[in-house]
Amino acid sequence: MGTSRRHFLATMAGTGLAVAGGAQLATLLGGCSSGSPVSEPSAPVATFAPPDPSVPWWMQGVFAPVDVETTSTELEVVGSLPPELHGTFVRNGSNPAHGPSTHWFLGDGMVHGVRLEGGQARSYRNRWVRTPILAAGGGLTSAGVPGGPNNQSNVSVLHHGGRLLSLGEVGYPFELDPETLDTVGPYDFDSRLTTAMTAHPKVDPTTGELHFFGYGFFPPYLTYHVASPDGTLRLSQEVDIGRPAMMHDFAVTDRDVVFWDLPVIFDLDAATSGSGMPFAWRPEAGARVGVMPLGGPTSAIRWVEVEPCFVYHSANAHREGDTVVVDVCRLPSAMTATTDTRPSRVERWRIDTSGPQLRLDAETLSDNRMDLPTIDRRLTGRAYRHGWYAEVASDGPDGSQFPGIAHLDSGTGQLERWAPGPWLAAGEAVLAPTGAGEAEGHLLAFTTDRSTMRSSLVVLDPLDVAAGPVAEVRLPARVPVGFHGAWIPDEPTALAP
Ligand SMILES: [Fe+2]
Repeated sequence: MGTSRRHFLATMAGTGLAVAGGAQLATLLGGCSSGSPVSEPSAPVATFAPPDPSVPWWMQGVFAPVDVETTSTELEVVGSLPPELHGTFVRNGSNPAHGPSTHWFLGDGMVHGVRLEGGQARSYRNRWVRTPILAAGGGLTSAGVPGGPNNQSNVSVLHHGGRLLSLGEVGYPFELDPETLDTVGPYDFDSRLTTAMTAHPKVDPTTGELHFFGYGFFPPYLTYHVASPDGTLRLSQEVDIGRPAMMHDFAVTDRDVVFWDLPVIFDLDAATSGSGMPFAWRPEAGARVGVMPLGGPTSAIRWVEVEPCFVYHSANAHREGDTVVVDVCRLPSAMTATTDTRPSRVERWRIDTSGPQLRLDAETLSDNRMDLPTIDRRLTGRAYRHGWYAEVASDGPDGSQFPGIAHLDSGTGQLERWAPGPWLAAGEAVLAPTGAGEAEGHLLAFTTDRSTMRSSLVVLDPLDVAAGPVAEVRLPARVPVGFHGAWIPDEPTALAP
């Protein structure tokens, strides 16, 4: 796949196909619906180079780190920015500051923020997260054993309890100034947090409480936490899993917490060789999914065995009577000897909790290769219909590619795609809610054009992504393809009951 894609990109570069000037916005950004041909530009003006096989894929092209922090208040807008958008879109990613990182996941955290107000794009900023590892300048272990403040804080951002936090999975969060994106410092919940914090915490939309976990390379291997709406950490309980498994995400309903204990296991040999990622694929160690009451006690967790697989991300979960429904992006494996990830597909787990033993049935919701799921977060843990995904292609030597954005309507089963063409990479799409119904709002995502290496913030209709962007904010600096973002509204818009 990687070789053929490289060949394809080289062929494309040879033809000189690239972005045409003066086109309609939808054509300019390659709007097209699923199954229809990608619109081809009419006037070649630039080309893009094929990947260099001697350079790690995450250090080149649309993934390559940027080496400066930029602040700009002069932003060009193409199309019409929805005037009801008042807030800041912030996204985190891996951006090594001191030479090549050994893995895409192991660069220093950098946040990118775009401020939108009443139809205007007011500012763009990018800032490294000031961690001890950034200061030490030598990668994950350069500031000592990873953990606590020693983490790269490069995965996601969270706004909760009046604080903007950068999250990095293997240690404490870092508090950021929401206006300047400058780092305030590591945040350990007033010394109450004694474990790492996942980059995928969940805010219960009814209570405002924050549910999260931390996993460790050494006991306690898994700890469940709850913080009150003001950010006070009020509960921390160990979950006895007996092994150091990598857990990137989990799920909640209005009554349950769902963990997946899958066979990507801490491995010291892996940590000290190769990519430096301290995990290995151990399918023989087994895989299981656990359900426990929201708020604990963790001793009440019940498990059901599943076929070995890996799941980075869940889209959402909810209760249907005795059944817990969880939508996940399922990979057949991860962190193997030959590849760290494989393209994932969307699967729905139905976990029957009524009997003495849990029963789990899985069905495929979509065969489209995609991940980085997002929803209308006002429906976290509740029945929902709409999910958005970054399409993922290729796990070969060119790495992951992000060719478009998809909308999966789980009510109809229909998948719509914005496939902007081979010259554009599109990352995670985040909903900015501005209306009282599910998915009423605007979808925000960063894109980068391989032919110009220019990045934009694009605005899509959440229920018509195939139409392409309704507006584009052209940014003064490239935004490398990264991980997770959040929309931080000046005033949240409530969902109608
Ligand atoms: Fe993630």
